[in-house]
Amino acid sequence: MRKERTFAMIKPDAVQRGFIGEIISRFEKKGIKIVAMKLVAVDRNLAEKHYEVHKGKPFFEPTIQYITSSPVVAMVLEGFNVIEMVRAMTGATNPQNAAMGTIRGDFGQFIGRNIIHASDGKDTASFEINLWFSPQEIAQYSRIDEQWLTE
Ligand code: CMP
Repeated sequence: MRKERTFAMIKPDAVQRGFIGEIISRFEKKGIKIVAMKLVAVDRNLAEKHYEVHKGKPFFEPTIQYITSSPVVAMVLEGFNVIEMVRAMTGATNPQNAAMGTIRGDFGQFIGRNIIHASDGKDTASFEINLWFSPQEIAQYSRIDEQWLTE
């Protein structure tokens, strides 16, 4: 397994509903390392860049409105196979289809209010990390439990 990084964003609905701690806690308990994190009032420019692959789709404008409506918590997560692992913890894009036990399955109801975003692949992760964070904002450190997480 490769050590990699992914980008995750706790969306405005989850921040407003008080789920920041719950969501971060799930990543911490899984042993995933948080290497960067910040609360961001997202402007239209950043939102459009983040969702540029969806430009022209019917949900593009409502999604921009949603993401810019209230602050989000952006983070970079690090670990072995972390891109796939975080996607699994996040659940299906539509909370109606997301399994119970996943973040969207447990806390969401509507696709337009789906709690969290997580990068869907290696290229997306790299694009999103560079879009949201400067290299100086990403910390390199060891967690004391690392030797107990790996074989
Ligand atoms: P996210 O994983 O951040 O990627 C695209 C986002 O667009 C998605 O989560 C939802 O917040 C939003 N969205 C709204 N409607 C749709 C839709 N019909 N299909 C996909 N994404 C949608």
